Amino acid sequence: MAVLDVLIYPNPALRAEAAEVTDWNEELRKLMTDMWETMYISKGVGLAAPQVGVSKKLIVIEYEGEKHVVINPSIIEEDGFERAEEGCLSFPGVYESVERPAKIRVVYWDEAGARRDEVIEGFLARVFAHEIDHLSGRLFIDRLSPLKKGFIRKKMERQAREKS
Ligand code: NI
Repeated sequence: MAVLDVLIYPNPALRAEAAEVTDWNEELRKLMTDMWETMYISKGVGLAAPQVGVSKKLIVIEYEGEKHVVINPSIIEEDGFERAEEGCLSFPGVYESVERPAKIRVVYWDEAGARRDEVIEGFLARVFAHEIDHLSGRLFIDRLSPLKKGFIRKKMERQAREKS
């Protein structure tokens, strides 16, 4: 097992469209194991492969003691709206209220390669939607007002400059 580096915004890799997973092989299993380890150490609820620099449609989520490996997902139905505070491992220390669908229907493949078709509600739906956004380079700040987004973008860019 290995703890991977989580990419921090504005790393451009966070904006890339991830590729579909096609092989449920040893490489994929190792990546999953390392992503779980990385997520636990970082105390996150979810982690998407692009956040560790791997451009693949793979997500790990653990919420209320339940683990979800989510591969090649798509949200096929959305219902209602809910607003709640969100953070992201790629934006350390940033928490903002984000509007998301209250309920989603999502199709994906699990770690065994089985197809899942599930209706998810509440905070878990929010986590799924947040992580699925990562697979197409969308970030939670994109769902804030332009003013808030600009403020966070500038702050994160300044932090990145100070570190380098
Ligand atoms: Ni995130």
